Amino acid sequence: MNILFVCSEAHPLIKTGGLADVAGSLPLAINELGHDIRLVLPAYHELRAKCSDLKIVAQLTLPTAQHPVKILEGKLANSQVTLWLVDYPAAFNRPGNPYMTLQGEPWPDNPHRFALLSRAAVELSQNRAGLNWQADIVHSNDWQTALAPALLSLEPLRPATLFTIHNLAYQGVYKKELFEQLELPWALWQQQGVEFHHMLNMIKGGITYADIITTVSPTYAHEIQGSEYGNGLEGVLRHRNERLFGILNGVDYDEWNPETDPHLSTHYNTLNFADKIKNKRALQKERGLPVRDKTPLIGLVARLVDQKGIDLLINALPHLIKQEVQLVILGSGERRYEQQLQQWQQWHPDKISVQIGYDESLAHRIEGSSDMFLMPSRFEPCGLNQLYSLKYGTVPIVRRAGGLADSVVEASKQNIADQTATGIVFDHADTHAICWALDQAISLYHQPKIWQQLCKTGMAQVFDWKSSAERYLALYKKAQDFRGW
Ligand code: ADP
Ligand code: GLC
Repeated sequence: MNILFVCSEAHPLIKTGGLADVAGSLPLAINELGHDIRLVLPAYHELRAKCSDLKIVAQLTLPTAQHPVKILEGKLANSQVTLWLVDYPAAFNRPGNPYMTLQGEPWPDNPHRFALLSRAAVELSQNRAGLNWQADIVHSNDWQTALAPALLSLEPLRPATLFTIHNLAYQGVYKKELFEQLELPWALWQQQGVEFHHMLNMIKGGITYADIITTVSPTYAHEIQGSEYGNGLEGVLRHRNERLFGILNGVDYDEWNPETDPHLSTHYNTLNFADKIKNKRALQKERGLPVRDKTPLIGLVARLVDQKGIDLLINALPHLIKQEVQLVILGSGERRYEQQLQQWQQWHPDKISVQIGYDESLAHRIEGSSDMFLMPSRFEPCGLNQLYSLKYGTVPIVRRAGGLADSVVEASKQNIADQTATGIVFDHADTHAICWALDQAISLYHQPKIWQQLCKTGMAQVFDWKSSAERYLALYKKAQDFRGW
């Protein structure tokens, strides 16, 4: 099959979160199964600097673009996957985050920028860029590329389309004037289209027009059809429910593996698991915490936003801090969370270490050094860090939501006895529940036999991309069957 994978970020080129991990791995896994998959990304400033050997292979004339849009071609690192960069400097050649200004505000021209990306994908997929390549499938991701299936629905000889929701909380909602400014076809402006309460809703375009809709875990696929997690689109999703599927993300084990991770000073696996303590000591030292083998070390790496339940953690701190425990936090996001966490660090420098910012290497060291990893998410479409934690024998403490519910087996009495438990799972998004979970984790930590079993059962779990890629391929075929219904 010829597949065009369209996305707004991809690791290791440009990353703000898990979407990049997926876009940097899934195309490779699909390629390894023998398919011609090509990745389309914006030619961001940062990304151009990282790619050598780019050549201009096409020029497109697109609505709203005052100049021709260039297509640059390269290869995704260490792979056969062709990379096509949409080069329109006025839209993409600016420093910083792909979505936000340095002040943390969305770039005001985001709808223009990402409509342009979707439009370029529509042309590339239908062999209209002179590149002698025709897609069978266009796979687009999140609101930034959701207009691609919407625009393609108007094309008579179009490829089939699959749209993946990585996070329904971000929808790309704009005033109707924007719809006009973007020169989108009026055929899309309808209730069964991109219109939502008289506004333009880009993600709704993906949901209503794609032949198949997926999201990144079976539980999230179910959750978003209800009002609590549907963000207003639950009705639309229920309406298309026979086309909605959940596929759990995988892990790139070349990147996330404690046996080979170049960011760790000591490598380990289940056989020499005891060596992991050396990494713990190194991290305690590095973060200025007392070096204590027997003190449970809890890690957290996340965007510091409501989704991740940072407020739940902050509310639990007065309780947690009374115990013999250490906490290492890495993240950035909402100013108020950054400030509150830094304040707690100042109050308890012997127990809490907070690093604000983005640091790939430290993220790996936290996974490879902590005893447990906290993800108290209010919602979590998939979540990748709990999957990394399992592999690293770092017991995840998670809220039962989305992909967390699908990947962590709770340490109930029965599951501990059966040796199937891999982590601590709590239900309610409140202080009482998170404190209960932390207490349970600390108590199990002090029962070495059970704890070792939890770590090792977790390390034996496999969430590889190959099986997820096979599921996507089956759905690409289904999308072809559905096309035109
Ligand atoms: P989300 O995409 O919602 O942020 P995921 O769990 O799917 O959540 O993926 C987050 C990814 O981003 C993981 O690879 C995680 O290690 C990484 N990450 C998040 N924050 C940071 C940070 N401050 N520094 C380094 N890596 C980070
Ligand atoms: C989103 C979700 C996260 C998921 C990631 C990759 O950012 O918040 O749960 O793992 O996308 O699919």
